[in-house]
Amino acid sequence: MAPPTAPDGAPSTGSDWDPAGYLRFAGERARPAADLVQRVGAIEPAVVVDLGCGEGALAAALAARWPAARVTGVDLSPAMLAAAARHAVAGRVDFVAGDVRDWAPAAPVDVLVSNAVLH
Ligand SMILES: C[S@@+](CC[C@H](N)C(=O)[O-])C[C@H]1O[C@@H](n2cnc3c(N)ncnc32)[C@H](O)[C@@H]1O
Repeated sequence: MAPPTAPDGAPSTGSDWDPAGYLRFAGERARPAADLVQRVGAIEPAVVVDLGCGEGALAAALAARWPAARVTGVDLSPAMLAAAARHAVAGRVDFVAGDVRDWAPAAPVDVLVSNAVLH
């Protein structure tokens, strides 16, 4: 029987992401996004959104970079959102279900990040 997900945690047809498999390569995956985020010039963004946030590590890094910001991660995968919940901080970092194809912000966003989703 075929495994439900690829070794890197990506879903096969009809299955969800596997956060544990995805995290096997967390270091390699995080590096480009971390480099990119360091180049964002926003000084004190109030609202930061991570579209396709996966297991939430990047959203957590964004919250660490901008401690006064409210950071929201949006993802379609129930498994990834469940894994991301460990990075939630009441009133500061939250994770919500949503589809980036029809997502629209409820209020103006200062920094919008999306890593390894639109490919
Ligand atoms: C390769 S992972 C990237 C996760 C994270 N951005 C990171 O940098 O580690 C792709 C993520 O995009 C999410 N995703 C794919 N299509 C999506 C969509 N249409 N709407 C929301 N999330 C989506 C998947 O559920 C998965 O968590």
